[in-house]
Amino acid sequence: MALLLVSLALSVGPAICFNGGSLTFTPGKRYPDGLLEMHFYYRESNRGPCGSPLNWICESGDCSYLPYTALITDEVTDQDHSNQTLWCQSEGHMTTNVTNNGPFILSDSGCCWENNVHDVGGWTLRTRVDTGQRSDTQSPNRSPVSAAVSNIRIPQNCFQNFPLMVNDPDGDVVRCKFSDANCSSCHQHPNIHIDEGSCILHRNGSLALGLHVFELMLEDYPVSDITVTDGNGVSSAKNAFNLTGNTNPTPLSQVPLHFEIQILPPVQGCVPGANKPSFLTPTPLHGEEYHAAVGHVLEITLRAQSSDNSIFDFQVSGPFNMSKTLRNEDHGVSVATLTWMPQETDLYRHVPVCFTAETLNSQSEMRCIVVVVAKSKVLSGEAEVSCGDNSISIVVKKASMEGIDQNWLQLRDPTCSLTTNETHILGTMSLNTCGTTVEDSGDFMVFKNEINSFENPNAVITRRNQVKIGFSCQYPKVASVSSHYVNHKSDYIFTESSFGTFGYSFEVFTDNSFNSQVDPNLYPVEVKLMEMLYMGIEAHSALPEVKLFVESCRATPEDNPYSTLYYDIIKDGCVLDETVKVYSSDSTKYDFEIQAFKFTGGFDEVYISCSVILCAEGSPNSRCAQGCLQQPSRKRRRDVNQETARHYITQGPLRVLRQTQHSAEENGGSVHVSASTGVFAGLFVVSIVVLVGLLVYNAKKTRALDRMRLLSAF
Ligand SMILES: *[C@@H]1O[C@H](CO)[C@@H](O)[C@H](O)[C@H]1NC(C)=O
Ligand SMILES: *[C@@H]1O[C@H](CO)[C@@H](O)[C@H](O)[C@H]1NC(C)=O
Repeated sequence: MALLLVSLALSVGPAICFNGGSLTFTPGKRYPDGLLEMHFYYRESNRGPCGSPLNWICESGDCSYLPYTALITDEVTDQDHSNQTLWCQSEGHMTTNVTNNGPFILSDSGCCWENNVHDVGGWTLRTRVDTGQRSDTQSPNRSPVSAAVSNIRIPQNCFQNFPLMVNDPDGDVVRCKFSDANCSSCHQHPNIHIDEGSCILHRNGSLALGLHVFELMLEDYPVSDITVTDGNGVSSAKNAFNLTGNTNPTPLSQVPLHFEIQILPPVQGCVPGANKPSFLTPTPLHGEEYHAAVGHVLEITLRAQSSDNSIFDFQVSGPFNMSKTLRNEDHGVSVATLTWMPQETDLYRHVPVCFTAETLNSQSEMRCIVVVVAKSKVLSGEAEVSCGDNSISIVVKKASMEGIDQNWLQLRDPTCSLTTNETHILGTMSLNTCGTTVEDSGDFMVFKNEINSFENPNAVITRRNQVKIGFSCQYPKVASVSSHYVNHKSDYIFTESSFGTFGYSFEVFTDNSFNSQVDPNLYPVEVKLMEMLYMGIEAHSALPEVKLFVESCRATPEDNPYSTLYYDIIKDGCVLDETVKVYSSDSTKYDFEIQAFKFTGGFDEVYISCSVILCAEGSPNSRCAQGCLQQPSRKRRRDVNQETARHYITQGPLRVLRQTQHSAEENGGSVHVSASTGVFAGLFVVSIVVLVGLLVYNAKKTRALDRMRLLSAF
């Protein structure tokens, strides 16, 4: 009866227009009697002045006590500053101890979305919570997290894709759907399609001017099959999400994400910076994970530019007590500093923060990040980063990371470990190694990596990371670094515990003396078909007795060694291409020549990627000592003191030009090559047919025919 009154009271209250809402939940400690502390965090947006907070009711399952026992606080987190009182967002916290008698559903509903183009009237926010113990984490499930700002505005001609951010604290697979199974009348947008896996909205037809309503539901599924066991010992299977399977597994949880997008009249061009504010460094990128510590202030800087100096605010959907200060710089640049100090109750929370830069007539893209709250001690690691021309070095003081086992630290690419001396943890990597990513942040190119602790398999803990030290180097786009980086791969630098910091260079040379390398500014290197190409790999190490081993080299038409289209030049230490001639002068160099070739199918560029290993000289069991292996043993154990991990280095692009008759003669080329283009094209076609046989029989053919293997199409 009381529940009924609550909802009645809501529906007859003042007509406050609902404008969006979301909810996430995080379990806290479990008491000996089986009760579980549960924290619900919900955001609510209103059109107009700040309105009445949500009132969650128990819809089904064992939760009828919940609205009466919960401790609820609610606070406005951001509102319209354009003097028009257009919108208001607040965040509510609801904390209570819940029973462990199977899943339950909480919901809140109301009559009125703001007037919108599809006349969607009522709304229902609904969440499905399971309090049982997961067999994989030995903890209750945590819901996916997401959010959106209150007032999203996009010109009609600029709406293509709208990426939402989703993050799952348990590392589960998250699916985004329009509405949920329990809701018969939920609104599915007719002209916008949602990619359920990536949570990107795609325009799929015309969009009328005005407000469009989105009623989404986020669901999480485990990455592998697990069970969830409630307090009565009843286990239910939760299957991994499988796109191809016919089965429709039940999610671990469901949480709502409702919002509106206002479609504005079309504008001329949709370029950020010109018609709408563009974000500048160091604004976080969409989807980034930030880390904060209990009792320590987290500061996030948002920076945006608009051509007409008109940014008046940044709209923020953030947690309770996040404050915002604004200031202006020259050239229409505005900066917002968000500060937030997580409390003890925020420990282990994943907190979504979304933001936009606002002018009266336009809005930047919406970006969202997630802030992960950890214990303070772990995160206070003192690191120093130095940015070189093409390398990043990081030095972390061990004393500042008490309790962290340095043997459990790694860079993004786990084949790159770190070295240590008595007092510090050290790592050096180049801009293109060890998992370093490059991002275009508007005015800078930003290269990022991070030091992570991975799990100690003996510790009885969940999958929470204990340490994560992100670091980055940024280079102004106007300087040559970015174009240099894109066109010519500069040196590769790695760090490994037994070998320290070492590097590889991979260069194209002008002739077979391998003395003069092709100028990096001349990339992509232009070569003519059938001409010889001179390439050299060199290892650089401070250790005196090391040997370089080139295990494989593969050509690909794109800058990706895992491209589906490839041609193996060297494999398992064996040279496969018959035009290759190796000139090895000393143990740290590998110079070779190969006749130029290209891929069929309209690809003009070729990249060469090689996997390389450094070994201690004279180590009889190392991979280097084994050389060419026709049948490589897959189970060989690497002795980390004798050899490094396998690292991949790439050079390119080589732009392969068709041979002209003139240069063919110069080259003393074969008759095939000096044939007309028409015949040449014919040869290409034939070669694809020939390919399969060649591979199967590994037949030795004439040199000219052999080149046809290059024209492979896997
Ligand atoms: C918000 O900040 C105030 C004052 O700084 C503090 O008293 C309050 O506990 C904070 N609330 C939360 C939920 O962190
Ligand atoms: C460890 O390396 C760091 C950085 O190179 C250096 O500053 C420090 O003095 C070294 N400590 C010892 C004990 O060698």
